[in-house]
Amino acid sequence: MKAARNNAIVFLGGGRITSAVVAGLRLAGYQKPIIVYDRHPQKLRRLKQRSGVIAESNLNHAVKQARLLIIAVRPDSVRELLKEVGKISLPLTAVSLAAGVPLARLRQALGSPVRWARAMPSPACRSGRGLTALVFDPRLESSARQEVKQLFSKLGPVVKIPESQFNGFTVTYSCSHGYHALAALAAAGEKLGLNRRTARIAAAHALADGVMAWRKGKTSLDHLLSEAATPGGIASATMASMKKSGYTRVIDKGLQAGMAQARKNAKR
Ligand SMILES: NC(=O)c1ccc[n+]([C@@H]2O[C@H](COP(=O)([O-])OP(=O)(O)OC[C@H]3O[C@@H](n4cnc5c(N)ncnc54)[C@H](OP(=O)(O)O)[C@@H]3O)[C@@H](O)[C@H]2O)c1
Repeated sequence: MKAARNNAIVFLGGGRITSAVVAGLRLAGYQKPIIVYDRHPQKLRRLKQRSGVIAESNLNHAVKQARLLIIAVRPDSVRELLKEVGKISLPLTAVSLAAGVPLARLRQALGSPVRWARAMPSPACRSGRGLTALVFDPRLESSARQEVKQLFSKLGPVVKIPESQFNGFTVTYSCSHGYHALAALAAAGEKLGLNRRTARIAAAHALADGVMAWRKGKTSLDHLLSEAATPGGIASATMASMKKSGYTRVIDKGLQAGMAQARKNAKR
C-alpha cells in the first residue's frame, strides 16, 4: 500500500495505543494507508505484519505525508518530539493522545500552521469496543473536526467534552479499572476455595455481564443494584462491608492520584 503525499494518517509513536488503534481501524474495515513512525524498528515491523501499516523511520518523511498527524508518544516525550516536528512546519491537523498535555501547550510548541485536537481513545478499541473523548482547538475548521470525529467513531462511541473535563474523563474511563477489579475479585474468590478458572469466570460475570445489560437496557442503576442485593442477603452484606472498609474512599483516592499525575504531565 502506498500513501499519496499529504494524504495519510500518520502516527508518531508506534507503542501500545497506536497498536490498539490501528488494529481497531483495520477491524472496522479501514483500508486507507496508515503510516507509523517510531524509533524502534522492531515495533514498526510488528505493526506492519499485524495491521499492514507503512513503517517509516524518518520523521521528516512521515510528517510530509500527513493529512492527519497523530501524536502517540508518552507525555514526557511530547516536548522533544514536537521540537523536531516544528522544524518541518507544515499546515496540518494534529491530534494529540498524550494524557494531561493541554491544547495551550501543544499550540505553543508548533505555532499557527498546525491546528489541534486532543483524543483519548481506549485500548479496548483493538476488539471494536472503544470509547474516545475528543476536544477541539477553537481554531480547528469544522471539516477537520468532522474528519477526526469520523476516524475515532470507527473504534466505538465518541464523546466531545470540554477540555476542563479531559483529565477527569481520562482517570475514570480507563479499562485498567475493570482489569484491576477483575484481578482483585478473582484473587479473593480463589481465597474462598474456587480454582483460578472458576474464580475468573465468576468475577468476569460479576463485573461485566450486568453492566453490559444495564448499558443496553433502560433500567436504572439504582433499581439494578437493589434487584441484585436482597435486603438481609449475601450481596447486601458483602456490599455493606466493602463500603464500611473504605471501597468508595479507595476509588476516590485512586482517581485523585490519577488527576495529580495528569497535572504533572501538563508541566513536562
Ligand atoms: N496506552 C493507553 O491505553 C493509552 C490510552 C490513551 C492515550 N494514551 C496516550 O498515548 C500516548 C502513548 O502511550 P503508549 O502507552 O502507546 O506509549 P508507548 O507504548 O511507550 O509508545 C510510545 C512509543 O513512541 C516512541 N517514541 C517516543 N518518543 C519518540 C521520538 N522522539 N521519536 C520516535 N519514537 C518515539 C517510544 O519509544 P521509547 O519507548 O524509546 O520512548 C514508544 O515506542 C501517551 O501520551 C498516553 O498518555 C495511551
